Amino acid sequence: MLRRPRRLRYTDAISSLVQETRLHAHDLVLPLFILPGSNQKESIKSMPGCERLSLDLLLKELTALHKKGLQAVALFPVIDKSLKDLTGSYGLREDGILPRALTLLKKELPELCLISDVALDPYTCHGHDGLLNNVGYVINDETVILLTEMAKLHAASGADIVAPSDMMDGRVLAIRRSLDSAHYNHTLILSYTAKYASSLYHPFREALSSHLSSGHKKTYQMNPANKREALVEASLDSEEGADMLMVKPAGFYLDVIAALRSATSLPLAAYQVSGEYAMMQAAAQNGWLPFESVLMESLLSIKRAGADIILTYGAKTALDLLNDP
Ligand code: PBG
Repeated sequence: MLRRPRRLRYTDAISSLVQETRLHAHDLVLPLFILPGSNQKESIKSMPGCERLSLDLLLKELTALHKKGLQAVALFPVIDKSLKDLTGSYGLREDGILPRALTLLKKELPELCLISDVALDPYTCHGHDGLLNNVGYVINDETVILLTEMAKLHAASGADIVAPSDMMDGRVLAIRRSLDSAHYNHTLILSYTAKYASSLYHPFREALSSHLSSGHKKTYQMNPANKREALVEASLDSEEGADMLMVKPAGFYLDVIAALRSATSLPLAAYQVSGEYAMMQAAAQNGWLPFESVLMESLLSIKRAGADIILTYGAKTALDLLNDP
């Protein structure tokens, strides 16, 4: 045999020399849930190891994680039911928990990259990402106007990156124009470009109490059967001025990540969502899979498929393992 591929795996050092993909702490973004009040901490049943934290505890936690190499966080507010309404009006309040969190974190940890979620669903009583018409259809253009206001509020509060996660048409261009007209031309837009109508968001909706009161999100989120459609969304987002694109979920959609990687030169993110994390944790708690190595393999695979940036609830575990393998 002239070719013996196993020679390249003969020792750990050789294997490492020829390793094609590597994970780095700087690839990771930790999504976090913010509670109102102070000294509040709640576990999330379906997401072991993840907690909802009030801002004071969140700051403590992030100070420690930032020292360990965490560079970026994606923030999601937990809104009390009594504050939710049909139009998600709490989402535009300057004294809301997300704007206050952005202000405090930008002041205390100025080098940490803050990614804010721009969408109505945490704030609406029906749990949809947009305004509903009289037959319960999510109306696009009126929703987009609210998103532009929300994006400006987040930028003013300290968000480095605004991330519209709603899948309304035309929102990237509208947000870019509104940010620029308010002189936030340095604020980046990370677009949830190909966000699928997935069953894997279930634990996240438990975490935020944002379960749908009726209907489904299939008139705005994408059909899991479609890949070409993701390319259409990507070219629109890119023309509309998105700085970064995202595929969500990640693990079931590696082909979509790979397709977008070859179709665009923009930085590409992937969101390993709550259901992906819950599956790994549940199997580990049963003693059926080793959590740490499965997590690292899943993250490496997402990167190998073409993602530059990975949002994952496993970021804390991954950081520890990357710092001390
Ligand atoms: C909604 C939003 C969702 C997630 C992030 N933003 C859920 C949804 O679309 O219902 C899910 C994230 C996860 O499951 O981890 N704007």
